[in-house]
Amino acid sequence: MPESKSAKRRFRVRLRFKFSLIVAFLVALMGMLTLVFFSTMSNALWEEHRQKGLTLAGGLAVNCESLILLNNVAGVYSLLQNAREGDREVVYSFVLDKEGNVLAHTFEGGFPSPLLKAVRHAKKGEIAEKELETEEGLLTDMCAPVMGGEIGEVHLGLSKVFVAGRIADTRNSLLLVTGLVLATGLATSYLFGSYITKPLVELAEAADRIGKGEFDQRISVVSNDEVGLLALAFNRMSRELDQTMRQIGEAREELQKAHDELEERVKDRTLELAIATREMEAFSYSVSHDLRTPLRGIDGFSLAVMEDYGDKLDDTGRDYLRRIRSGCVKMGALIDDLLTLSRITRSQMNKEPVDLSQIAVSVAAALQEGAPDRKVEFVIEPGLRIFGDASLLHAAMTNLLGNAFKFTRYREGARIEFGAAAVKKRKIFYVRDNGAGFDMQYSDKLFGAFQRLHTGTEFEGTGIGLATVKRIIHRHGGDIWATGAPGEGATFNFTLEGC
Ligand SMILES: Nc1ncnc2c1ncn2[C@@H]1O[C@H](COP(=O)(O)OP(=O)(O)OP(=O)(O)O)[C@@H](O)[C@H]1O
Ligand SMILES: [Mg+2]
Repeated sequence: MPESKSAKRRFRVRLRFKFSLIVAFLVALMGMLTLVFFSTMSNALWEEHRQKGLTLAGGLAVNCESLILLNNVAGVYSLLQNAREGDREVVYSFVLDKEGNVLAHTFEGGFPSPLLKAVRHAKKGEIAEKELETEEGLLTDMCAPVMGGEIGEVHLGLSKVFVAGRIADTRNSLLLVTGLVLATGLATSYLFGSYITKPLVELAEAADRIGKGEFDQRISVVSNDEVGLLALAFNRMSRELDQTMRQIGEAREELQKAHDELEERVKDRTLELAIATREMEAFSYSVSHDLRTPLRGIDGFSLAVMEDYGDKLDDTGRDYLRRIRSGCVKMGALIDDLLTLSRITRSQMNKEPVDLSQIAVSVAAALQEGAPDRKVEFVIEPGLRIFGDASLLHAAMTNLLGNAFKFTRYREGARIEFGAAAVKKRKIFYVRDNGAGFDMQYSDKLFGAFQRLHTGTEFEGTGIGLATVKRIIHRHGGDIWATGAPGEGATFNFTLEGC
């Protein structure tokens, strides 16, 4: 069964169950009250039965007094007969004289002599009672003394069956009423439960549909009570929600349109930019390339002037010529660097597994070989393998380690490290040195072409190395940044795609 359906059923059952529980509680309360009422009433009936016996027996004893004294047996008999016929509860009555002989009685088939033994006899001033089991059923025998028992006693048999019958009738009526109340209560609670839960279930189903995105929901307002109020509020809410969602939808559409337009424009601009960049690169490549020939001419002819006419020039002339030639060398180096940078951007990438640690070791060995008189400690973490273009990565490592080697030149105990640190599941490679360092406020300039933070007399270079490294790292889907402080060394960090 889907979750919402079972939740609905549970909800329905619970509410009805609660109603039934309240009704059951009220019925149980009523049942208890009825029980108390019944027990009080039955006690009262028994007490009434007893009081009636006492009154009747006492009255008979008083009335018999003169008749016995006058020895009027017929009178006594008629008195007894009247008493029996006057009340349905009276089963029998009889009078004993002072010797205990039966003077008169109301038994139609003759006096049952065992009765004399079964009953209790009166004591002076007191009416004796005894419960007897007879053929007519259970009864109470009341014995009242006549003249304090001096001239006889009167007995009156009162049927208990009659009283018990009245009590049973009352009990049955009470049971019937209680049963009817219970049935009515349960039926009412069921119907009331349905009446209450039906609109609530309708409400829950509509809310469900809203949850599924159908915002325009209306439910019928069937009553003008709190549930009706709830239905009204729900309808208002769903109308407003529908309106708001429509507005959001329209706004989203407009936003999407603007976004698409922007994306289209960015695509166009990117294409234009790519074309412009390509043209620029082609232009700078051809310019650099074409500059070489005239430069070679200037260098060659200034050498010829130096060799052929050097002796005809004075010292100043010869110095000018030397300066021209050293400018040519510098310009040649610049052109070479520009061509390298351009080649790196345009060259085809050949990706393969590359051991960066191995590259670092071979670059360090070459640097060391180029300056055998320098003492530099290289610390290279082994086994740093990645997937990339071996020759481009070799060029990048040469630039970074070359810089570290160059900028530790005036440092006693120079130390250069290469390694990687794991940060948030990514590897960050680093080249660290304890050389000249740099001012962090210019850190964003480092990677621009021909940007240098140190003078050429202090540290030679054209300022193209880090621009080349940055392009190589970008072509490998990574990023590069540097940290450092003047006199405290520098650290160049970079990431690579897939590491
Ligand atoms: N390890 C380093 N320590 C201190 N400064 C550095 C370091 N590496 C680079 N720099 C600074 O960044 C500038 C740019 O470096 P880059 O490698 O691009 O140029 P270069 O080394 O001066 O010349 P080139 O590499 O073209 O021969 C350097 O001139 C220097 O000021
Ligand atoms: Mg450099």
